[in-house]
Amino acid sequence: MSEIYKNEQYSIQERVCDLLSRMTIEEKVGQLMQLPAHFGGFTDKLEEWHVGSYLHCTGDDATTLQQRAANTRLGIPLIFGIDAIHGHCFDNHATVFPTQLSASSSWDKDLMYRMARVTAKETRATGQHWTFSPVLCVARDARWGRINETYGEDPWLIGEMAAETIKGYQGDGPNREDSILACAKHYVAYGETLGGRDSYECDTSRRKLLSLFMPPFEKAVKEANVASLMTGYHAIDGVPCTVDKWLLTDVAKTDWGLDGFIVTDWENVRSLHTKQYVCENEKEACYRSLLAGNDMIMSTPEFYPLTIELINEGRIDISVVDTAVERILTKKFELGLFDDMRFFTAEKSSVMGIKPHLDVSLEASLKSMVLLKNNGLLPVDSADIKKILVVGPNAHDVIAQLGDWSFGSMQAGATNDTYHRDQTTTVFQALQKASQVHGFELEFIKGSDCVDENFDEISQIEQALPGVDLVVACVGDTLSQNGEFHDRADLNLSGKQQAMLEAVKASGSPLVVALIASKPLSIPWIAENADALVCGFNPGPYGGEAFKQVLFGEHNPSGKLTVSFPVHVGQLPVYYNKYVGWHAQSSGQLNGEERYIDMPKDPLFSFGEGLSYSQYVYSTIRTSRQTIEPNQDISVSMNVTNTSQVDGTEIVQVYLRDLYSSYTTPVKKLCGFARVDIKAGETRAVDITIPFEELALIDSSLNKVVEAGDFHIMVGSSSKDCDLTVLTINLTKDCVVMKSN
Ligand code: GLC
Repeated sequence: MSEIYKNEQYSIQERVCDLLSRMTIEEKVGQLMQLPAHFGGFTDKLEEWHVGSYLHCTGDDATTLQQRAANTRLGIPLIFGIDAIHGHCFDNHATVFPTQLSASSSWDKDLMYRMARVTAKETRATGQHWTFSPVLCVARDARWGRINETYGEDPWLIGEMAAETIKGYQGDGPNREDSILACAKHYVAYGETLGGRDSYECDTSRRKLLSLFMPPFEKAVKEANVASLMTGYHAIDGVPCTVDKWLLTDVAKTDWGLDGFIVTDWENVRSLHTKQYVCENEKEACYRSLLAGNDMIMSTPEFYPLTIELINEGRIDISVVDTAVERILTKKFELGLFDDMRFFTAEKSSVMGIKPHLDVSLEASLKSMVLLKNNGLLPVDSADIKKILVVGPNAHDVIAQLGDWSFGSMQAGATNDTYHRDQTTTVFQALQKASQVHGFELEFIKGSDCVDENFDEISQIEQALPGVDLVVACVGDTLSQNGEFHDRADLNLSGKQQAMLEAVKASGSPLVVALIASKPLSIPWIAENADALVCGFNPGPYGGEAFKQVLFGEHNPSGKLTVSFPVHVGQLPVYYNKYVGWHAQSSGQLNGEERYIDMPKDPLFSFGEGLSYSQYVYSTIRTSRQTIEPNQDISVSMNVTNTSQVDGTEIVQVYLRDLYSSYTTPVKKLCGFARVDIKAGETRAVDITIPFEELALIDSSLNKVVEAGDFHIMVGSSSKDCDLTVLTINLTKDCVVMKSN
């Protein structure tokens, strides 16, 4: 009789059970191993260690390894993982998207879903099964190198966008040609490490984790059924995530019901000994990691021999390993890897970078453009322009424009920064095409983002300025200034960027700044002196085109920031959902002047902020009721009128505040929004429902409760008080939403 596990007629559970019963201890431990294909020659170990997964293994390398796995005793297929985190960027023909931070400025959940659908199709077509995406980290310290990978600073919005992205990746089921497994990472609060220092200590309580950092992951598991979680490098209150049983097993698996598996980040197990010094040796590290609830171990090769020793010594019961193997095998069966999807790849020209996919990328770039300042200069009428001077290091820099993880991974030795050039239109190239269409002259002085004494772009700019009608300055940062273990203590523009801007300003020429950067930078001079400022972060291959369309009014910008900009690095943290109680000047008043004595109260630019060529007027703002009972949702309604002559899209935002609560709660937190297309002169009725659960806080027993009393509901166009209308509702009595286990 053919083995049950090879027979599609049986349920996945029956097939897993049958296969498990046939596996040796060595084969079981091997299934928990994920090794790099391009580092350390671990492809040689496939048969000897019964390896279950490789990462960053693409093309023929993957096919060869999968064939070798098929030829092993049980023929258990490999699962290939890759960082396809804003498109399947490791493949030069794939569609690249704006980074998460850039795309999140669109506030468009449906767009997140469609971007992920495209990425899933193209990733699966190349024989990959699983992306280490999305990132659910909360960006609250701009010094951290990986802000570009996040959806910004608000946990609720992160959860909303991540859930849609996961659904987009995982589609209608993993055993399809257009679906892959998603991976919510880095579990949890990896962006909250002290001083924005990558993988450093995080001093956050469990109560605060459950209040702020875990809700996006809970939504990913419960609402989007994410197939995997990845543990962060760091320690929380002294406990490295990788050995935190409460985090991995009690909450994620038991409370939330994760039915997928948990993978560690790169070398997390080894790091318990070599970097975090919480294990005397790697064997202890393997022991503690398994007991905490990790299922797959990324890139700690010694895990294989050491875990077999632990089992043979009786220190680890094989049932612990079986549980992990079952989770991994279940996903491999669901992916169809034991069946007709084992070697699936598609005809690349029919999938990779096809126009419908590229159209989604252009849409994302356009919707991600955030107009932060406009003194009336924009949109520019090309008929008025005879000469444009383009300056700045990021005007023609594919790497700065596409951002991190666009060129492969340093872990894989697979970096190739020649990728994606033919797909990318830089700001300079877009303006070059426009100059041919509209007949204006264009000059470009790149300048440098590092101090290069021999490169005197300042005098070049001064010589070029006479007769210029408009200067477009593309400034920001580049890949060497951000990314993993690339945190910055200084958020000013580097090199001579600032000097170039000031040279332009001195000439009196109209100045439009395009910020192409991985994160918020401290740019108060630009905010003060530029005539207009458009922020794209890393806006993707169509970022240049999108900026050009905003410049000439071909696109009416609608993007809103999902992360706040500090005036100065010393002003951090400046996230909008701050707490009260700073013992600072005139504190104690509602939203008083709480600030450093040498800094203004407010950030340079705030969460939810973004201008348009349209103007919107809010009216008849109301809630469905002034008094609510426990478990009653709140409906917020209003009219929004576009009083301009230009059709546009407004992102209406709703925030709430628990006015008096037993624990400190944020002065406001986002709880709803709507993207509303409004034609010139049109009025649209908008209704946004706030689920009752959004009113909740976490008490010291880790229960989720809603306390009786007044709540402020705030409605408007940004998180700034001046943009919000405040309504008050009252909850009649306390309510326990969820009791902690
Ligand atoms: C990296 C990153 C993680 C990535 C993994 C695999 O070090 O921290 O985000 O998915 O290793 O490349």
